[in-house]
Amino acid sequence: MAGLPELRVLENLEEVAREAAEFFYESADEAIATRGLCRVALSGGSTPKALYEQLVRSPRSGRFPWAKMQFYFGDERCVPPTHAESNFGLADAALFRPLSLEAQGIFRMKGEAEDTEQAARDYEALLLKQFGVRPPAFPPFDLLFLGLGDDAHIASLFPGTAALDERRRWVVPNQAPRGVPNRLTLTVPVLNQAEAVVFLVTGSGKAPAVRTVFDDPAADARQFPARLVRPEKGRLIWFADRAAAAQLAMLSRGDSSHEE
Ligand code: 6PG
Repeated sequence: MAGLPELRVLENLEEVAREAAEFFYESADEAIATRGLCRVALSGGSTPKALYEQLVRSPRSGRFPWAKMQFYFGDERCVPPTHAESNFGLADAALFRPLSLEAQGIFRMKGEAEDTEQAARDYEALLLKQFGVRPPAFPPFDLLFLGLGDDAHIASLFPGTAALDERRRWVVPNQAPRGVPNRLTLTVPVLNQAEAVVFLVTGSGKAPAVRTVFDDPAADARQFPARLVRPEKGRLIWFADRAAAAQLAMLSRGDSSHEE
């Protein structure tokens, strides 16, 4: 792993989203300058909505080279893209449509597919084509966003599930213990190949999981999947609000170096 996780503690969700949007633009500019494009994997759940709103609202959005962006997804619920629970559906409504982004830069997982195994293989084939790398290599996203479940799950990699152990495939189906049961998800090795992994975590409900991930080295990673996120060479950055970071030892020691 390139280095220790960077933790940025901010006052609230709006500040987390604003800082993360700034990081998005900075990282994307750098990737585009280096490679001519930026490939980002968006996370699911509800937190990303605030990020999308800040990206749209930013004064940078008007002059940003969106045609050089490619949007992928870290996971998807197995529902149609117009369903209220669709991760693509949230991004489409809050980011893609407001910015009038072109469909050719957006690559969604086909959550509506009856055959989830085939949908996972199809997405892996799409990644193979778009990234131009082949197994045993893994596709290197420039920017990969993650949320954190209150059980420390990431993407659709839930505690104790078989998908956590997958080290060869890039995309697999998985089962969720709550909410939409059938999922599609990137696997751990793909997450850890990213140039930058960015967690957005807010709310007191996440505080115990955040503490376990940061402060409990003995915690079983299969029960706390976020502990499996250790980028091989990339950066690992957490944007958290005070409520989510409240139980961290470094904050209770009065260490304010992470607070902005
Ligand atoms: C999903 C997500 C999942 C999410 C966390 C946090 O599809 O549900 O990928 O991993 O990021 O559950 O969700 P919230 O942002 O809603 O707290």
